[in-house]
Amino acid sequence: MEPQVLEREAQSAIEGASTAAELDDVRVRYLGRKSELKQALRAVRDRETGMALNALRERLEKAITTRRRELEEAELEQLFAQEGLDVTLPGDPIPRGRLHLLTQIRREIEDIFVGLGYEVWDGDEVTAVWHSFDALTTDPGHPSRSPSDTFYLDDDTVLRPHTSSDQIRAMESRQPPLYLIAPGRCYRRDTPDATHSPTFLQFECLAVDRGITLADLQGTVLHFFRALFGPEREVRMRTSFFPFTEPSVEFDVTCFLCGGTGCAVCKHSGWIEMGGAGVVDPGVFENIGYDPEEWSGFAFGLGIERIAMLRHGLPDLRAFWENDLRVLAQF
Ligand code: PHE
Repeated sequence: MEPQVLEREAQSAIEGASTAAELDDVRVRYLGRKSELKQALRAVRDRETGMALNALRERLEKAITTRRRELEEAELEQLFAQEGLDVTLPGDPIPRGRLHLLTQIRREIEDIFVGLGYEVWDGDEVTAVWHSFDALTTDPGHPSRSPSDTFYLDDDTVLRPHTSSDQIRAMESRQPPLYLIAPGRCYRRDTPDATHSPTFLQFECLAVDRGITLADLQGTVLHFFRALFGPEREVRMRTSFFPFTEPSVEFDVTCFLCGGTGCAVCKHSGWIEMGGAGVVDPGVFENIGYDPEEWSGFAFGLGIERIAMLRHGLPDLRAFWENDLRVLAQF
């Protein structure tokens, strides 16, 4: 067959193929191993004919590729039409992450104190026994030191049992006046249950200046609880004991659920126990080299999980780190 005739015939067959399978047949017929064109190419003796036949082959291959693309597009169109796919519909929403409830509350606490001019001190989870006990004038026989209460890494090093350790670290590296809060993770050998955990979050508040008294502590705690739990809150202090404060107190806040009339959250007392506090013991100042004649201070410590549980009526501490999104996604 004349090459021109062959080309015309092949081109119209390519055009005429209406499915991918038909197009494949056309390709085999005109470009396959046994096709007239391939045989002619094999038989070629002179350069000119060879070039002409090769050019023809390339034109046909290109035409097939173009047609294949057309057919594929048409098939897709048809599929879309059949399945009623509407590409203008909005896609599935991508779920958004959120801050963990404890992170939200920690930041809220930080904001309240930053608003009072305090700085946020980033403490250390591994501390010397000195920072956690000795410098805090904790008696050598005090039960909190025992390895059944505190995690020892070696004889001189513990996992921070309370954020009070950060009082010492901060005072050792700074000169007064000092106003700071130190939020952080603490560790104690407690068996996990609804209200205990071997690891939990606390934050420490420490103010050191000239002439600080228990009244400053009371006013600061009151402001904090009103900012956190509402402007009607009242605070009361009960005497207590901590090795590093004198006098020491524990403070309660009026129940934000019942307003003080009594409910399940406050165990029908109208008051909720919140934390420990006191005026910094002069012995602590001596240990870190502040002059107790010139400087005085107050400190308090609070559990962050406890605040979150109270505020949201959560019954079980363990919910915070089971990481069940059905729980966490509610906040
Ligand atoms: N560190 C004490 C505790 O964990 C709380 C506290 C902090 C008490 C500061 C007094 C002053 O129980």
